[in-house]
Amino acid sequence: MDATWDAKGYDSSFGFVPKYGEDLLNLVSAKGGCAVDLGCGAGTLTRLLADAGFKVVGVDSSPEFISLARSRHPELEFILADISDFHSEKKFDLAFSNAVFHWIDRTRQPALLLCTAGILKSGGELVCEFGGFGNNAKIHARLSEAFERRNLHYKMPFFFPSIGEYVPMLEKYGFQVRYANLFDRPTPLGEGGLGKWLEMFIKRPFEGIGEDVKSSIIRDVVSASEKDLFRCGKWYADYVRLRIRAVKL
Ligand code: BEZ
Repeated sequence: MDATWDAKGYDSSFGFVPKYGEDLLNLVSAKGGCAVDLGCGAGTLTRLLADAGFKVVGVDSSPEFISLARSRHPELEFILADISDFHSEKKFDLAFSNAVFHWIDRTRQPALLLCTAGILKSGGELVCEFGGFGNNAKIHARLSEAFERRNLHYKMPFFFPSIGEYVPMLEKYGFQVRYANLFDRPTPLGEGGLGKWLEMFIKRPFEGIGEDVKSSIIRDVVSASEKDLFRCGKWYADYVRLRIRAVKL
């Protein structure tokens, strides 16, 4: 997971991320009990879980986000920890996560699922949504083309599995999958459009690349995407979501 976040910038320009997560709460079947919000960011959905009657803990590996969450919601508990290495004596009825699992490298997914199973009670549920197979395919294809034109290699930094890949992983780590859906969700971007989205989210592939080259790649990607990601004066990202509800056996 990328280590440093501009937590306030993310929160003010990309508030649609937790906004979409509100709908994910409808997939939760547990009625109260203890919940953990994995990758809680600024704590927006952690607060909604508390409002829904859960005794909730938010966990995030970003010190910037944890301090923002604590200042916004001083009545809630937040823990600074990597969710793929998070252990707890206390066992939870619900593990909830929105727009986070794709940040965990494929090689760390077993650790993530082992930890998540480990913190749930038997019969507890995992409800999560993240980028699924084909997520932002247009954007990543254009990044790859722009890198190659400069004799650079673009390594897509996210894990976007299909249902067919993820369900067996969940089963291997002790979950029974009750619901899985992969669906398109073209998502309107805020002010700054695609350029700002690229600056905020595509960090690792630009490590070691000068600012001038980075800016020219971003310009290329924005201009190549105008034909299909800019409609009626608004930028859209070609999001594909993977939504899961699984019960720990
Ligand atoms: C997503 O929510 O799918 C996502 C957001 C930023 C970068 C990659 C994926």
